[in-house]
Amino acid sequence: MKSTSSNTTMSNTTMSAHLLRCVRCSSVQGKVDRLFRCSECGELLEVSYPHWKTLDNESGARLKKIWQERRLSTAPEDVSGVWRYRELLPRTDLQHIVTMSEGNTPLLLLKKSARMLRLSHLLVKHQGMNPTGSFKDTGISVAISNAKAEGFPVVCCASTGNTSASVAAYAAHAEMKSLVFLPAGQITAGKLAQSLEYGATVVQLLTDFDGCLQLLHQVIQRFPAYLLNSVNPYRLEGQKTVAFELMEQMNWSVPDHVIVPGGNLANSSALGKGFLELVELGLISKPPKISVIQAAGANPLVRTMRENNGKELVKVTAETKATAIRIGNPASWRKAVAVLQNTGGTAEDVSEDEIALAKAELGAEGIGCEPASAATLAGLKKLVKSEFVKTTETVVLVLTGHMLKDADYMLQAKGNRFVGPVEADAGAVIRTLEQIYAGN
Ligand code: F0G
Repeated sequence: MKSTSSNTTMSNTTMSAHLLRCVRCSSVQGKVDRLFRCSECGELLEVSYPHWKTLDNESGARLKKIWQERRLSTAPEDVSGVWRYRELLPRTDLQHIVTMSEGNTPLLLLKKSARMLRLSHLLVKHQGMNPTGSFKDTGISVAISNAKAEGFPVVCCASTGNTSASVAAYAAHAEMKSLVFLPAGQITAGKLAQSLEYGATVVQLLTDFDGCLQLLHQVIQRFPAYLLNSVNPYRLEGQKTVAFELMEQMNWSVPDHVIVPGGNLANSSALGKGFLELVELGLISKPPKISVIQAAGANPLVRTMRENNGKELVKVTAETKATAIRIGNPASWRKAVAVLQNTGGTAEDVSEDEIALAKAELGAEGIGCEPASAATLAGLKKLVKSEFVKTTETVVLVLTGHMLKDADYMLQAKGNRFVGPVEADAGAVIRTLEQIYAGN
């Protein structure tokens, strides 16, 4: 396969030299341990690019053009909606890049909901359209490429189901082995089936997600596997590219708000990092307000903001039918707080009924997603009501997972258009239909 001509000059050598820096004490790390924690204070690390400078108009325009031209290429690193933006990613040899054409997800208008909320511009960025059906693929592509470059044969994660599906698929594609820890009985059938199908070793544990992650941390100190949870800062580098792709799709006109669901809080952190880097480089003038929506039964960030203005994490015992975000002790809380503060966004929580209603409303527009993703629309309704979001503003909801990830949720909520069983006879069917439509 052949890259575009601009790509030939934009080989891996133009990717960015980076270092890992602690998000609390800012100390730069030399060698990093398997848990990706600061050697000074134990906090999470982030990738930073010391050589970046603000681009002048001409260089900025050139970079945007290169990204656009790569869409015509057939080279895997150009087709990827992550690696296409590789000037803003850690330097990686092309031979180590593991890609399955992640990213490249649609941006769709949400017309009925916009009318209902009297919003002039409401869009969804559907990250559920990634190869394994969730946004995780963008981050896993970058982090597993780093694992490959470092020569690890085994990768691992703890998960509420989507990370594990993505890790299993990308590991299989890269001819690596994968090990996943899942909370027993708390993963949807679809997500569990994905991990099994892609050949992961699946360990179900009698604990919740937070317990699985803690246990995995202990295990990998004695077992040689590369950690792909979002404490791995390379994950966020992949996930931040959604900001770049979104800006291209919006012709570089910055929306007023971007709203994401929050669980372990890496996605909101990554999205914020992406937008703030675009500001730093001079490619946009300001970031959108980034707001995070959690289920009321799993709302540690909301409580942390309300109760102590983001200074100290308020852990909760998580409970919600939106199993993807059933997390009470989020690893990336400090990064997410910084994103809310640096972009002027907010944290809000929504009830189980509000999530179910929002999910049904999205479905009624032909836009399926999993319950966690629908929390964004439910949250938006509250933010419009409180006038945090003004009706003249442009809003983008990030839908994080595909609707088929959780078919049981929808079947339990089946509406009155689910008819039968009816006798397999045309007369009987017509009589039934006449009764139904007589009511409308
Ligand atoms: N939406 C979906 C569909 C998810 O699967 C997740 C997280 C989130 C939102 C929240 O993102 O954790 O970055 O705040 N799922 C993880 C997993 C925890 O293991 O699949 P976050």
